[in-house]
Amino acid sequence: MLIAMDGPAASGKGTLAKNLAAHYGLAHLDTGSLYRAVARDLMAAGKPLDDEEAAVDVTRSLDPDTLSDPGLRTPEVGQAAAKVAKIGAVREALHKFQRTFASKPGGAIIEGRDIGTVVCPDADVKIYVEASTDVRAERRHKELLEAGHDISYDEIHAQIAARDEADRSRKISPLKPAEDALLLDTSDLGIEAAFEAAIKLVDTKLLQR
Ligand code: DC
Repeated sequence: MLIAMDGPAASGKGTLAKNLAAHYGLAHLDTGSLYRAVARDLMAAGKPLDDEEAAVDVTRSLDPDTLSDPGLRTPEVGQAAAKVAKIGAVREALHKFQRTFASKPGGAIIEGRDIGTVVCPDADVKIYVEASTDVRAERRHKELLEAGHDISYDEIHAQIAARDEADRSRKISPLKPAEDALLLDTSDLGIEAAFEAAIKLVDTKLLQR
């Protein structure tokens, strides 16, 4: 089974995808970490985020073992990732990696912005996870405070709104639900309730096939 999960920053799709992967025994790929890793490596090389040639070089030499680096989770790297995500050649190279992952024999759940629309349009189940900007900013603020970052709610709210705009207005692979995506709004749902709602969506979809 292949599940494609998309949605904006801090919609809760990361936790949901991890829980669904454990529930259905699927391999899990957070594709945001790929764009974040490209941004991290580009900044470490001292290159500007719109240097296409350097970005492609960095993408080709990306080390998949560094994708769980906690340094990838900072707001700065998230914003930088939204910038490198505009580069078509970077996206193409990363799409190849994602499609190889999607063909794992045991099945997979892949989360990102363009999985149901571009990377895996034939996925068995597509879920688009949404939540209001206020709720997403609250969640991300709490997460960052717990991780020891000193940042205000207003700053996070503005960053999330800016990233939504960048992700949705991008010319290549913009963030949007696939036509056949199942929508899941987690604004009023806790982690457990969102997980149960997602399982219901997946199981219902599988029964219809
Ligand atoms: O999900 P995230 O916050 O880790 O994603 C970081 C950035 O990466 C996001 O702002 C846009 C980009 N991204 C993308 O363009 N396509 C994806 N499939 C995943 C992430």
